Amino acid sequence: MNIHSTSLDVTVMSDTAEVPGIGFLPVNTFVLHSKQPVVVDTGLSTPDKDFVTELSRVMDPADVEWIWITHPDRDHTGGLWELLEAAPQARLVTTFIGVGIMSTEWDVPLDRVHLLNPGQSLDVGDRRLTGHRPPLYDNPATVGLVDEKTGAYFSSDCFGAPMASADLATSADVRAVDDADRRAAQLLWAAIDSPWVHLVDRAKYDPTVAELRALDPSGIFSTHLPPAIGINGQLVEALVEAPDGPVFVGPDQAALEELLASFEPV
Ligand SMILES: [Fe+2]
Ligand SMILES: [Fe+2]
Repeated sequence: MNIHSTSLDVTVMSDTAEVPGIGFLPVNTFVLHSKQPVVVDTGLSTPDKDFVTELSRVMDPADVEWIWITHPDRDHTGGLWELLEAAPQARLVTTFIGVGIMSTEWDVPLDRVHLLNPGQSLDVGDRRLTGHRPPLYDNPATVGLVDEKTGAYFSSDCFGAPMASADLATSADVRAVDDADRRAAQLLWAAIDSPWVHLVDRAKYDPTVAELRALDPSGIFSTHLPPAIGINGQLVEALVEAPDGPVFVGPDQAALEELLASFEPV
């Protein structure tokens, strides 16, 4: 896991997951160094991950006061339960639907939950964080957030883009990626993660993108893209194109068998 400091009170913890035939998906988690420290998302759930130990490279996990899960998919909840144990005062920020989804597997401690819907704000001591539903998402519990002090925007799955290498996926700046490659990867991810985008009514979808453009974040922190400061225009343009982008169809059984055969010793 790579760790990147930024100018926006945010430390990015950059991990990646290799997806055969797709590339290296960035899987970021974030520490927002507000007066009451906030962890945004908690990484992959595979047994080789130890989020709390990784977090201790950035801050004492015991001092975390808020754990904002942008939605409870397994690439966002990996360290959640260990962190709730390590940070006894921390509250879990999610939605009613988020609790419902998590309750299908875990015993969610309701006395430690803080329910927050898009448009509602959370006071973290020296700033307010306002929930925001990004234009693209794959889970009905999704709530991103805007740091009202710095203008940083945490976009959950939105703006994600699988990268050509693990190094690019965990880089400190998305501008390390060729612009055309990034745009194509954003469109691929939009088709994979939010296939409904090809069905949207432009009259309803476009204003959600325009709202984000007008928000003009000081930085875009997607769970699935290297940190993006100063390139809002290009990133948002890919959201505009997404409804007309390529459709994704996953490999079928014949492709899987071909892949498995390629693993056999010759
Ligand atoms: Fe997701
Ligand atoms: Fe995700």
